Parts: sequence; C-alpha cells; structure tokens
Amino acid sequence: MYSIDYRDRGTPAASSKSEVTLEIDGASVTVPDGTSIMRAAALAGGSIPKLCATDTLKAFGSCRLCLVEIEGRKGYPASCTTTVTQGMKVRTESPALTQLRRNVVELYVSDHPLDCVSCPANGHCELQDVAERLQVTETRYGLAGANHADAGKDTSNPYFTFDPSLCIVCSRCVRACDETQGTLALTVEGRGFESRISASAHSSFLDSECVSCGACVEACPTAALSEKSLIELGQPTRAVTTTCAYCGVGCSFQAEVKDDKIVRMAPNREGHANQGHACVKGRFAFGYTTHPDRVLKPMIRARISDPWREVSWDEAIGHAASEFKRIQAKYGRQAVGGITSSRCTNEETFLVQKLVRAAFGNNNVDTCARVCHSPTGYGLKSTLGESAGTQAFTSVMKADVVMIIGANPTEGHPVFASQLKRRLRQGAKLIVADPRAIGLVRTPHIEAEFHLQLKPGTNVALLNSLAHVVVTEGLARDDYIAARCEPESYQRWREFVAQAKNSPEAMESVTGVPASLVRGAARLYARAGNGAIYYGLGVTEHSQGSTAVMGIANLAMATGNLGREGVGVNPLRGQNNVQGSCDMGSFPHEFSGYRHVSDATVRGAFEAAWGVKLETEPGLRIPNMFEAALDGSFRGMYIQGEDLAQSDPNTGHVEAALGAMECIVLQDLFLNETARFAHVFLPGSTFLEKDGTFTNAERRVSRVRKVIEPRNGYADWEITVRLAEALGYPMHYRHPSEIMAEIARLTPTFTAVTYEKIDRLGSIQWPCNEQAPEGTPTMHVGEFVRGKGRFYTTEYVPTRERTSSRFPLILTTGRVLTQYNVGAQTRRTPNVVWHSEDRLEIHPHDAEVRGVKEGDWVGLASRAGETVLRATVTDRVQPGVVYTTFHFPELGVNVVTTENSDWATNCPEYKVTAVQVVKVNQPADWQQRQGKQAGRRWKSRTEPGVSHA
Ligand code: SF4
Ligand code: SF4
Ligand code: SF4
Ligand code: FES
Repeated sequence: MYSIDYRDRGTPAASSKSEVTLEIDGASVTVPDGTSIMRAAALAGGSIPKLCATDTLKAFGSCRLCLVEIEGRKGYPASCTTTVTQGMKVRTESPALTQLRRNVVELYVSDHPLDCVSCPANGHCELQDVAERLQVTETRYGLAGANHADAGKDTSNPYFTFDPSLCIVCSRCVRACDETQGTLALTVEGRGFESRISASAHSSFLDSECVSCGACVEACPTAALSEKSLIELGQPTRAVTTTCAYCGVGCSFQAEVKDDKIVRMAPNREGHANQGHACVKGRFAFGYTTHPDRVLKPMIRARISDPWREVSWDEAIGHAASEFKRIQAKYGRQAVGGITSSRCTNEETFLVQKLVRAAFGNNNVDTCARVCHSPTGYGLKSTLGESAGTQAFTSVMKADVVMIIGANPTEGHPVFASQLKRRLRQGAKLIVADPRAIGLVRTPHIEAEFHLQLKPGTNVALLNSLAHVVVTEGLARDDYIAARCEPESYQRWREFVAQAKNSPEAMESVTGVPASLVRGAARLYARAGNGAIYYGLGVTEHSQGSTAVMGIANLAMATGNLGREGVGVNPLRGQNNVQGSCDMGSFPHEFSGYRHVSDATVRGAFEAAWGVKLETEPGLRIPNMFEAALDGSFRGMYIQGEDLAQSDPNTGHVEAALGAMECIVLQDLFLNETARFAHVFLPGSTFLEKDGTFTNAERRVSRVRKVIEPRNGYADWEITVRLAEALGYPMHYRHPSEIMAEIARLTPTFTAVTYEKIDRLGSIQWPCNEQAPEGTPTMHVGEFVRGKGRFYTTEYVPTRERTSSRFPLILTTGRVLTQYNVGAQTRRTPNVVWHSEDRLEIHPHDAEVRGVKEGDWVGLASRAGETVLRATVTDRVQPGVVYTTFHFPELGVNVVTTENSDWATNCPEYKVTAVQVVKVNQPADWQQRQGKQAGRRWKSRTEPGVSHA
C-alpha cells in the first residue's frame, strides 16, 4: 500500500528507446515499446482497475480485474500482462468489462467483507477503491460461505502484522520479497480456497527468514500486511520527503505524520538511491526519537565525578564558551579542538569545522570518518584524483562481474544488496574476498563463483596476486592504460606485481587462499565486459588500508574498469554522511572539497569569506588529540554526534585521554559512553527534527527535511551557531540553505548545488558545477579527475599485530543488519528482538579445543585488554579467526582492539587483533562495574528471549 501523492502506474517502466503509438479510449498515446496497456493508460491519465499489479513488480496477471477490449482480438486480455503494439486500439471501459470486473470484486468481497470503517487501511485500500469504483457494496455470493474470517493473525514481527482474513492472495507480498528484497521468505501455500501466504514454510514472520524490510507490507493492497504503528495511530495526515539517517545507501522516505507523531516511514518510489525499497532500520527503527533515554535539557558539571545539573541553553552555551576561552588563554590556541559527525548533515558538519578553524583559530578538527573511510579518501585521491566512489548504485545493473572485498552488503548496505542480488539473479557473476562466509557467498538463487577466504590483514597480498595474474597472463587492457594512465607509474607497478613473490602461488601461504582460486577470480574479473568492485571497512580498517585502496584502483585501471556504467571502484560507506563529512572539510589538513590548508589561494578564499586569518599548518587528528591530552597540551573538545569512548580503538587509552581533559562539550541525543567524561551536555536533534542534506556513498546529495519540531528545542546547526557566537565569532544563518549557499561558493565540486535544484531534481551527485550543472552520476568518464590515472606500487607489509602462543587467534569485526554502529539508536528500538547482544563467532575446531559450546561465556583477551561475551560456534569463520560485532557498549570490543593504524591516515586497524579465547563463567569485572554504574541489568538484557526498550 502506497499512500500519499503517488500514482501507481501498475507495471514497471519499459526500458526500450523505441516508441509505439496506440489508441486508448479514442485518444492517441505514444509510449516506449514493451510498455503494458495498463501503464500506457496510466501515462495517458487514465486508470484501469487492478489488484495484483503494482509498478514496482513484474506483472503477474492473477486477479483478472484489469481486463480490456482490443479491437480485432477475441476475449478480454489482462492489461497488466499485455504489451502495447503499434496501431493497437484499446477500450478500457464498456458495460461488458464493468460486469466482468464487478463479478471479480464480488468474489473477493465474499471472503473479505467491506468492514472498512474499522480497518486500518480505510481510505487507502485498493480493494475498497475498486469496490467503490465499481459500486460493489454487497456480494451475490453471500458472506455465509466458507471464508477466512477466523484465520489467526501473525503479530510476531515487532513492526507489522499479518491478518490472513484480509488477504486476497494477490501474491504481491511474495513477489516483493522475491523481486524487490531478494530474500524469498514467502510462499503461497495450497490451492484455490486453501491458498494462504506462508512465511518460510509455516513459521511465524519473526521465526522465518524474513529480514523485516517491509517490502511486502509496502506492496500489500489491503490491510492484510499492516504496520503496527498505522494500526495504532491511524492514517497519516501529511508526509515529508526526507533521507534515512542510518547507512551510506541514503534511502529516500516519505515520513508520514499524524498529530506530530510518525505513523510510518514509507520508502520513496522516486528515491534515486532506493527506488521504493528500504531495510528494517530506515523503514521501522525510528522510535529512538521519542525514547525516554533522550536528553532534552542542557546539562553542565564542574568535574566528571559530579552529578549533572540541568541548566538553561544560555547557561550551557555560555559555560562551554568561557571554558574553551579559559583553556586557550591558559594553554594556548592549540589546546582545544572539535569533532564533526558523519551522522549530522553536511551543513552541520561544515559549521563545526568552520567553528574550529575560525572561532578556535586552529585546524584541530577531525571526524569519525578518520576511523572508517579515511584511507578511501587518500587512496582514491592519489590514484584517480577524487576522494569518492565512482558510480551510482544503479550502475551495478550493468555489471557483468562484481567483486566484493571486505564488505557485507546484506547486513551493512541492505538496499544496495537487494539491487546487487537482482543483478546476480539476472546472471552477473560474483567474487567475494572476505575472511568470513558472508551471506552473499550463498543465498537463494545466488552462489559466488569464488570465495577468496583470506586471512585478516592480507588484503594487499591478495590484491597484488590478483594483479600478478592480470599482468602476467596478458589480461591488462593496454589500449585503455596507454590512453588514460601515466606510462611510467604503470610500468613501475607492472614490473612490481609481475615479480614471482607476488604470484598467487607465492602468496598462498600469506593469504591462505588457494592459488587456483586467485587465478580463477582474476581471470573472471579481468575478462568481464564490465567488472565492478565494491569494498568496505574490511579494506580500510587496516595498517595498510590506504595501500589496499590504491591496490583496488590499480586493478580497476589495469583492466579498464573505470569511467563508464557497470564498472568502477565503489566504497560502501558505513554511516549516512561519511562521504559528506569528508567533503565538508572535516579533516585537519583539508578545507571542503579536499583542498589542503597550506594552499594559499584556497585559504585566502576562506579567509575572505570568513573574515579571519586561518592557520597554515594541518591540525591534530583524533589519535594525536588523545596523545596531546595525555601529555597535557590538549585540554578541551567540542564533540558533535560522536561516541569516541565506544567507537575508537583501545578503550583504556581513549578513556585516559578523555579523562585528562578539562572541558569536553558533548552534543548528542543520549548520554553515550563519552558522556561519562563530558562537562557540558548539549542535547542534539534527530534527522526528523531538522533541515539539511546528507551525501551518500554515491556522492548523492539529498535533502533532509524537518518532519517534526526538535524536541530539544534546536537543530544541531543552530546550537553550533549559538556556540560560535558565544565564542565571539557570530555566524548569521537563518536556514541551512544559506549554509549550503556558502559551501557552494567555496567548494568547486558544489558550485551549482542549491536547495532549489535538489528539490527539483530529487538529489544531485557531485561534482555539480558549471561543467556538470545537474551533477555527475559516473566519475572519470573520458579522463580521470587528476588527468592521467596513477598506479602506485603496493608492497605488502604485514601488520605488526602478530599471533603468538599467548594470542593465537585473529579477531575481526563487522555489523549486523538490525543494529547500527555503536547501537545508540537501534538499541533503543524493538530491533533488539533480533540482536540483543554482540556474540563471538568461533570455528567449531577452535571451540572444541577450548571446551567452548554454543552460548558459553568466553573471555576475549588481547595485548590491549580483555572483555567477555558469549560464543556462537559456526563455520562461517575459518579456523584461527574469531569475529564479533560492536553494537553494544557492554561488550566494549574496543577494549581489546589495538592502536595500530593505517600508515597514511591513522585509520585504526580494527580488523586485525591477535587474541586468546577462554571459557569463563561471567562477564569481566569492568563490565559488571560499568553495568552497575549505568544502571544496566547486564544479565537480564542478554538472557535469551529477554528484550528491553
Ligand atoms: S498479504 Fe497482501 S499482498 Fe500478500 S497476498 Fe495477501 S493481500 Fe496480497
Ligand atoms: S518484510 Fe521483507 S523479507 Fe520479510 S517477508 Fe516481507 S518482503 Fe520478505
Ligand atoms: S539503513 Fe541504509 S539501506 Fe536501510 S533504509 Fe537506511 S539508508 Fe536504506
Ligand atoms: S491487475 Fe492485471 S490481472 Fe491483476
């Protein structure tokens, strides 16, 4: 069911470039060849009654409601399954058609009484609509016959219900689960009257393979599948189009509202990144906005051991500013800094870095992208000339071979994964390079051609051996390289990767991947017409993260796989605005648009615009800030929307650094782990409460629109403006559109971006400037941004983190679908039903030698620290490797991660930690202590079957 302001055209658009002209009800209509009669009629302004058709799914032709008459043809063909032909003459209305349609509807109504007034779909039900249109108010077949009125409801899913008594067995839900989501969790069981929708063969929705994406709910024409929030709150009265604040896919939604309460988040069918699809997080997990844990009043305290004291906004802002001024007066200008957030809008991020540079007067600004995708920026800028992914998501539909390296799209980027799975079901081939058997390795109708199950920390060795095969087996695209790349750098790289030490055979003992698989994968990728690489944090969060990104770019250039649709190098960004926070100048060495602070011309432009003298030297990165805090030279920090104490590596070190500071000003939704070290707490606003833009992994800038008033009183950008003013540097913005205007004036890749244009086009992929006024879906067409592509020699240097007899296993980390990052939002939603604790995955062999069984508590110890969690015994991980997620502070996985980091960017090496695992009886002391302090009930939360708000 799609409600507000959308006209369903019945069947998907045809892709043909040739056109066909026909006549519908006497009017001439021209449409693309391959269009259905139903869609042609809709495009001409008409509407043929329908029930089993919707324009997100292939036509099915089961309800027989959409019958039409075609001149010269016998019978009444279904308009959804009949395509147009040149000169065809169609009648969509006639007494005979009306009679046939009435008959069909009466049959439906005999098993689905029109008790519409009490139904949650009242006013938005397609059966109700067609019954009204055909003036069917009762049925000749009576209501007393066999029916499904007493069929029990399935309310197991926390977000939606299935009521079989309202089901018309149109199978739209089944097809949505197959075609749109690609999970294939639903079937139609039985025949005729006995037909019934079933989730994974008789399971409840909750116990089935359903991943709660909501595609079936969206597709259902009646209230059979309904959001619980809709049942509870009733039909929405208004809708606002906005962008998901969870992952880097950047799905567009219509937030539907009644009385300032969010009734549902309907995925936007015209959304460029998601085309009407969504995942469980964006679709349903918005309840954290109104969670009682949310802090809505500013608070201050003199010492972190003191209790918080609620104060007015004026007092909190005034206190924060005077503390920063005091610290700078006492310890020097460099003694304070700021952290921008990849969860906040571009405009908010831009303002925080502006505050640091212009009001603090230094360049001590960094962002959480430091700890995830900073190597992407460095690696892609060095090789290709731009710090961003090269494609639009839709590009994958033209890929012939897709290589996924160190990413788990079905968990981390689910809507992109659904699109990818669609392409794979059409026949594209898949290569997965991952230490773990991620879901895509084998899923319904999909099996990877190659799973290169490398040892954590050996990406560069694997990439070099793939490249070795390309250059030594004559698979390099010499014509492409000659035309588009630097000959000297190519020659150097070619000679390097061709060395025997880089062969798959020589690297086998390093990577653990059989040479034959590496050779097969390299041939498949290099010989693909279109080979596309998608990668994630499994590439970047390593001591050689930047080297691996360069290795990926090298491989793509050498095989000619850049600069058109279907190919490319595509970083899958973790958080919603990682791309944007990097673009906006959040790194200490760069202004917006990735221009170095030492560039006098660039700096001059900012100085003129901001009316201040700016620092010429790069400021401190996050790890440098911690070091400086510990040595006493860095004393104050403004942190917007970031939980350093939970998300940064080596928690002991981070906490010591945070504890050493004199003033931490934290702006966030909740009292997170970092709040334990804060002196001023400024309540933040959610994405539903403000205006701005996010930039997703495709460089797509989309609008975030205020849906409800900020419960805390201010949008985050307004708080930064107030703080800047209190620091003596007034900022004069009345609306985020004015901030974007400033970004556009100062950033060459944004010069033609305006809110008006985003509203008109729906979204814009930067660069958007004079050369590309409507944006750039595909980068590096014709030539690379830097001119000639540069190959970098990527010597494999093993990480310093080695296994030993004391720490014999390697720990690596990842995410689950239902939780998000440090879990601050998703832990405060019913998503905990699916994932209520982080567990340690351990191979059966490693478990057996340690006496560990499924569900046992295990101690996880590294050179940095130790924690305790429960074990899951699975062969998804290889022997010698253990794996966990990092969504719950009670686990504190970063207690064990080390300070090793990428050589170029300091991105932490989260993905490789040498550990030991032993069976224990209870959580570690610090976990119990911290759990008590926070008033948490550690045990009860993690008992099976126990959920929490
Ligand atoms: S649940 Fe809805 S979509 Fe699925 S078959 Fe029934 S009426 Fe159709
Ligand atoms: S919610 Fe998604 S995964 Fe679950 S049954 Fe519906 S379409 Fe399938
Ligand atoms: S979390 Fe990601 S995939 Fe899911 S709805 Fe939001 S943007 Fe889309
Ligand atoms: S809408 Fe065409 S047969 Fe159902």
